[in-house]
Amino acid sequence: MELLIKNARVIDVSQDFIGDIYIKDGLINQIGKDILKENVEVFDCKGKVLMPSFIDTHAHFRDPGLTWKEDLETGSRAALRGGYTGVCLMANTNPICSSKEVLEYIRNKSIELNLIDIHQCLSVTKNFDGKTLSHLEEFKNDKEVKAFSDDGVGVSNSNTMMEAMKIAKKNNWVLMSHAESPEFSKIDMRIAENMMTLRDLELSKITKAHLHMCHVSTKEALEYIINAKNTGVNVTLEVTPHHIALTSEVSNYRVNPPIREKEDVEAILKAIKLGFVDTIGTDHAPHTLEEKSKGSPGMVGIETAFSVCYSKLVKDRIISLNELSKLMSYNPAKLLGMNKGKISIGIDGDFVLVDIDKKIKVNSEEFASKGSNTPFDGMEYYGEVLATIKGGEIKYKK
Ligand code: DOR
Ligand code: ZN
Repeated sequence: MELLIKNARVIDVSQDFIGDIYIKDGLINQIGKDILKENVEVFDCKGKVLMPSFIDTHAHFRDPGLTWKEDLETGSRAALRGGYTGVCLMANTNPICSSKEVLEYIRNKSIELNLIDIHQCLSVTKNFDGKTLSHLEEFKNDKEVKAFSDDGVGVSNSNTMMEAMKIAKKNNWVLMSHAESPEFSKIDMRIAENMMTLRDLELSKITKAHLHMCHVSTKEALEYIINAKNTGVNVTLEVTPHHIALTSEVSNYRVNPPIREKEDVEAILKAIKLGFVDTIGTDHAPHTLEEKSKGSPGMVGIETAFSVCYSKLVKDRIISLNELSKLMSYNPAKLLGMNKGKISIGIDGDFVLVDIDKKIKVNSEEFASKGSNTPFDGMEYYGEVLATIKGGEIKYKK
């Protein structure tokens, strides 16, 4: 695929300039000013911001088995509409992603769809049984596996978690932790997150495995993780747009971990400002409205993530747009081993074009996702995704 992008304000983790980008064979081939090519599609981006496409470290596309909520096609189209060309999908499908069959089904379908790049997580324990790790043996030579997770429930047995971390270390995989102690989830969701965070950090310290703490939401968990980082523990930290933007004062929307208090949100913002947060993961979790009314936790978020994060982090002067690009593109790509996330020669020609001055009102009826379960409906933010390009092909255009 060839494409010539002209006159964009180009922003990534470390650059901010006005210029052109030429994409050839799917990769960034030339970066500069006044690039001229014959017989090549030209995309004029004057007055708009072009960034590396976003990569989501945490999403649920519900395929196979729960496809009335979402499927790989609608999830991928929602991702594109949100500016994403790469996602890391959680394993809580039906069946759970514990076998070659399920993994191959997802990989093949996503290749067939040819919309975005999908990294599918394996489950840590077989079918989320909380104890069996033997299925992982089958995947030790699978170069495409980067991360595994029991997200949705978490691994409650500490010894099982330690053995899983040893496997992570040996295979060079990332263990993504949904930190929620089932002993406490019915009693106190704050203790539930804090206890498991402490345990996981201790086990990562012992095993030296790369631990990725998903959707961190309490000020205590943040403090534990930051302390661990400062003493060299191999841990990365993910936060969600909803834990950045909402407090329990304004929303009691059901999600795990829950929407927290003002002090927790302030602690998240401070951690972002000080550079302790590694990635933004949306935890895009589609459910039908009927399921929501019966208490299913979670919300869709992949189509609103940029506007919410741009408004709450950049517009509100917590960080620069370069730093947001680091959280939404550069670091996620590094974590998942994708050839994306920055603008330089040889990197995938994946971009998002945004209008940072445009005020938008969230309208869930416009979502490409099957899910419309969002607490952001009707809320106003700055920043609109105008187009998403993958490998030099414009895959989404408003
Ligand atoms: O709220 C949530 N929903 N938290 C999770 O960890 C899982 C997710 C889901 O899969 O619905
Ligand atoms: Zn989770």
